[in-house]
Amino acid sequence: MSGRNNSIWQALVSPVGRKVLTGLTGLGLVLFVIVHMLGNLTYLQGGDAYNLYAHKLASYGVLLYMLEIGLAAFFAVHAYIGINIYLRKRRARGGRYNTYKTAGKPSRQSWASRTMILSGVVLLVFLVLHLMHFKFGPGVAEGYVVAVDGAEIRDLRRLMTEKFQSPLYAFGYPAVIVLLGFHLRHGFWSALQSLSFTSPRWNAVLYALGAAIGLIVGTGFIIVPLWIYFSQFN
Ligand code: HEM
Repeated sequence: MSGRNNSIWQALVSPVGRKVLTGLTGLGLVLFVIVHMLGNLTYLQGGDAYNLYAHKLASYGVLLYMLEIGLAAFFAVHAYIGINIYLRKRRARGGRYNTYKTAGKPSRQSWASRTMILSGVVLLVFLVLHLMHFKFGPGVAEGYVVAVDGAEIRDLRRLMTEKFQSPLYAFGYPAVIVLLGFHLRHGFWSALQSLSFTSPRWNAVLYALGAAIGLIVGTGFIIVPLWIYFSQFN
């Protein structure tokens, strides 16, 4: 590695660099979950809306692959550094004897902030299972196919309907999404702090914005599973 590359690398792996990287990847992932949540809501439009939306995404081909690779890299960097920061802090505190004291007024320490590692790890495990359920779940070859405008496309709507008619999925997903809401609430604020976007004048507004994002994204995601589950009894 040349001297210049070496110093860029040193900056990235320094404590400040690590915080900046978690913040930047975190904000990128916030954007992704907002778009994903809005896409899911097309299910509620009924008819072919959701399948057409998913099909449109798939039709981006190489561009979509590139976005997916970027997204996977963001998840990997975010999770790796997040776990790394937690372990270093834990070691510095001297292992397991970590009692939390209130951090006083300017700090935004909360239940959500203290449990970022827990919600983060649960989300990581959820993500693997989630991709197996849907992304790599049954498709055209397994008979999940629907004809739209003369073309045969993957019937993702049927897969989603079948999954969320089971109480395990219909309530398991929302349980994880509640943790996502808390993770976003504190994560958004923490990312702004790491990137030095906070100021005493705006802190209360920015913190409230994080809380609103957590609440809106969480609610938006939870509506679809519960809607599907309860619709089957009508
Ligand atoms: C009720 C909640 C959710 C539902 C119903 C849902 C549904 C889906 C479906 C159907 C797909 C497959 C799309 C396709 O193959 O075209 C998908 C992909 C994906 N979901 Fe979710 N999702 C939910 C929550 C989440 C959450 C909370 C995250 C992240 C923390 C997430 C991350 C992803 C990722 C990374 C992909 C793959 C995207 C791609 O590679 O194109 N999902 N989701």
